[in-house]
Amino acid sequence: MKTILLIHGPNLNRLGARDASHYGSLTLSDIEGLVEKDAKALGLNVKAFQSNHEGHLIDFLQKESDNAAGIIINPGALTHYSYALHDALLDTRLPCVEVHLSDIKSREAWRQNSVTAPACIAQISGKKEKGYIEALKLLHTQLSV
Ligand code: DQA
Repeated sequence: MKTILLIHGPNLNRLGARDASHYGSLTLSDIEGLVEKDAKALGLNVKAFQSNHEGHLIDFLQKESDNAAGIIINPGALTHYSYALHDALLDTRLPCVEVHLSDIKSREAWRQNSVTAPACIAQISGKKEKGYIEALKLLHTQLSV
């Protein structure tokens, strides 16, 4: 069974307690549960990881990517400045979808740019938890062809 890495960056462990108007009211484990359920129905396995530390996210990618088929990542604020995370994603050579719960394009100017998106096949923003399911389906299609 193919494995999808589901990765969350800084502060996303606080989902449920963060600003619900931007991020919705689900917790991180609620979101991980939803993705795992839909992945199972598509015949995919999910390996989830969250860290507040850039280097830990990169270590996880380096360690796990050889045994994975695709990546769904919400890098949190690292999206906007982590060239190191961009390079780590690129080095995996895996199809990657970047997801944001909020609509980053309609928020502060500094939040509208993503330096990690160029390493991804798509960016989905502003669809709350539904964005993750869309990302999963996109990867499933990508991996089936
Ligand atoms: C976020 C958007 C980022 O700008 C922010 O720093 C986050 C969450 C989102 O899911 O909308 O932590 O990635």
